[in-house]
Amino acid sequence: MKRIGILTSGGDAPGMNAAVRAVTRTALANGVEVFGIRYGYAGLVAGDIFQMTSATVADKIERGGTFLYSARFPEFAQKEVQLKGIEQLKKHGIEALVVIGGDGSYHGALRLTEHGYNAIGLPGSIDNDIPYTDYTIGFDTACNTAMEAIDKIRDTATSHQRVFVVNVMGRDCGDIALHVGVATGADAIVVPEEEYDIKEIAETLKQGFANGKKHGLVVVAEGVMNAEDFKNELLKYGDFDARANVLAHMQRGGNPTVRDRVLSSKMGAYAVKLLLDGKGGLAVGIENNKLIAHSILDLFDAKHQGDYSLYSLNKDMAK
Ligand code: F6P
Repeated sequence: MKRIGILTSGGDAPGMNAAVRAVTRTALANGVEVFGIRYGYAGLVAGDIFQMTSATVADKIERGGTFLYSARFPEFAQKEVQLKGIEQLKKHGIEALVVIGGDGSYHGALRLTEHGYNAIGLPGSIDNDIPYTDYTIGFDTACNTAMEAIDKIRDTATSHQRVFVVNVMGRDCGDIALHVGVATGADAIVVPEEEYDIKEIAETLKQGFANGKKHGLVVVAEGVMNAEDFKNELLKYGDFDARANVLAHMQRGGNPTVRDRVLSSKMGAYAVKLLLDGKGGLAVGIENNKLIAHSILDLFDAKHQGDYSLYSLNKDMAK
C-alpha cells in the first residue's frame, strides 16, 4: 500500500479531525502517502483532492467540525456517480479510501466495496446508530454538550417551577436521549426504541411536583416527535407551565472530549493497520473496549444495539 485517501462525509461530528489526524500520522509513519478529499463524496467526484503532510493535521486534534469539510451528497447513490468517484481515486493513484461518517457515508463506502474498490469506514456520527460499534466518534461530545445545555435549562425551569420538554438529536436512534436523560436526571426519557405512555409521564411529573420538586424535565429523541408537539400532548394530561426546547445543531459543534479524541485516535490508527495488513471492505468499531472490524457488505443487516437498561434505570430513579 503506497497511497491512501481520506474523506469525511454526512453530518459532521466532533472528533472527525482527530480521526483524520490519526489516519494521516499513522500512514505517514509507515511510509504511506495520504491524500485528503474535501467535501466528502461530492469533492471526490469533483476531484477536490490534495496531498497531506504531517503539518496538514497539526493543530487539528482539538478542533470541532471537520477541516476536510463535509457534504450531504445523495447523488452518490447512483452507480455512474460512484464509478466517477472511483475514476478520480484511480487517477490520483489512491489504492484505498478511508471514509469517516455515519449511516449514509457507510452506504457510499459499501457501494465502492461492491465495485471492488478498497474502502474502510470509521463511524463518525453523533447519533451512535452504526451497527457493530458500542460508540461512534462524536457521540460522547454531543452528549456532554446536550447535558450542559440541559443543566442550564434546569436552572430556569426550577426558578419558574416549569416543565421543559427538550429535543435532542439522534435521527432514528435514541442513544443521545438515553444517556443525556440519565445524566441530567430527567423525569422521563422518550426514545424510538421503547413504548411510552404520555399519561404516565404526566403523572410522574405531577408526582414530582407533589414531592417538592421545583421543575420537570422530559428528554425526547428527535426521532419520536418534536418537542413542541410533545409538550402540547402532555398538557392534555396535566396543568403544567411548560416550555419546549430544541437543542438541534449545537450538539454537533465544539471541541471533542477526551473520550472522543482517544476513540478517534485508536480507530484511525487501527484502520491504517488493517490496510497495511492487506485488509479492506471493513467497518471499524469498538465493542467492550476492543477494536473490531466487520465486513461493510453485511453491516446493515444488523441494527445498532444501545444500552436500553438505561431506560428502566431512569424510570426507577424518576419516582
Ligand atoms: O446524523 C447527524 C444528525 O445531526 C442527526 O442527528 C440529525 O437528524 C441530522 O444529522 C440533521 O441533518 P442536517 O444537518 O442535514 O440538518
